[in-house]
Amino acid sequence: MSIDTSAVSGQIVCVTGAGGFIASWLVKLLLEKGYTVRGTVRNPNDQKNAHLKHLDGANERLSLFRADLLDFESLKAAIMGCDGVFHTASPMTDDPEKMEEAIIGSKNVMTAAAKAKVRRVVFTSSIGAVYMNPNRSPDTVVDESCWSDLDFCKNTKNWYCYAKTVAEQAAWAVAEEKGVDLVVVNPMLVLGPLLQEAVNTSVVHIMKYLTGSAKTYVNAVQGYVDVRDVAKAHVLVYEAPSASGRYICVESMLHRGELVDILAEYFPEYPLPTKCSDEVNPRKKPYKYSVEKLKSLGVEFIPIKQCIYETVRSLQQKGHLPLPSKLQQ
Ligand SMILES: NC(=O)c1ccc[n+]([C@@H]2O[C@H](COP(=O)([O-])OP(=O)(O)OC[C@H]3O[C@@H](n4cnc5c(N)ncnc54)[C@H](OP(=O)(O)O)[C@@H]3O)[C@@H](O)[C@H]2O)c1
Repeated sequence: MSIDTSAVSGQIVCVTGAGGFIASWLVKLLLEKGYTVRGTVRNPNDQKNAHLKHLDGANERLSLFRADLLDFESLKAAIMGCDGVFHTASPMTDDPEKMEEAIIGSKNVMTAAAKAKVRRVVFTSSIGAVYMNPNRSPDTVVDESCWSDLDFCKNTKNWYCYAKTVAEQAAWAVAEEKGVDLVVVNPMLVLGPLLQEAVNTSVVHIMKYLTGSAKTYVNAVQGYVDVRDVAKAHVLVYEAPSASGRYICVESMLHRGELVDILAEYFPEYPLPTKCSDEVNPRKKPYKYSVEKLKSLGVEFIPIKQCIYETVRSLQQKGHLPLPSKLQQ
């Protein structure tokens, strides 16, 4: 895809949770495009954020701000004076105790953005705020008009989806009340090479099959997208004057059996599971979905097989997985 490369020199944008998996790629892309970036992190001196300082342009145009989602003043300090905000920080967990951070954080960032009169906020929501609805018919196409059912999230203890749904709704409410231009990206599960040193939650989704810790795979489907495309989508919806509302972001959906088949094709040396944990029911089918809205802005996605291959190579290069040669010894 082509991203608008018109001069952005002098534009200041804030990226919350800058050291995270998606945010690191976003910071990288924004620096490459010439933006001046303020990244918020909980601890600028923590080694886990060191990779940010090595990005091209970081010396000249990246500054790290200490901020916590529950601390409005810390977020405001980072956001005042910015032209735009990318709000990606949120706990990646099903721990109900952490929900507050996602929800209050969303309100705090939006309120600070309103005070700073930024041009636009791009909020990283999730497909988890879109598709969790047991009453949807199998023929319904999941698109940006769909919202997850909060009671269903609660009853199934899917606190991550619950928190992302309420956090996104809170962002829309503040946007309306205070007149903030908000655009939302709703990615499915994000894979791809890591810039940060530690393994993030969504990459564990495939790593567990390669380490042998998952002996079987579940009878379930999942949509996947490459982290580099998620970063591009964020910049695109920030820059495109016509962008508005929500944008589902996914390359394709795979059954877990198809995922382990792809892993086995490229990396047969690892102890991959060959059996589904559910040998009774028929294979779950993907739901129908639409990604046309994002594609209409010009996004072209990295094919998921390439993304999976490069994710594993990155895990090997960073020492999170043994090299196949070591496995055979
Ligand atoms: N990865 C996926 O598959 C996926 C899919 C859809 C949507 N998303 C959304 O994308 C965003 C980024 O996810 P990611 O995969 O990049 O996860 P990640 O690597 O875990 O990054 C999350 C970031 O949020 C920060 N954070 C968490 N709680 C915070 C708090 N109380 N105050 C300040 N910062 C806080 C973390 O900071 P620390 O390093 O200090 O913990 C980290 O930088 C999240 O909003 C997530 O819901 C992710």
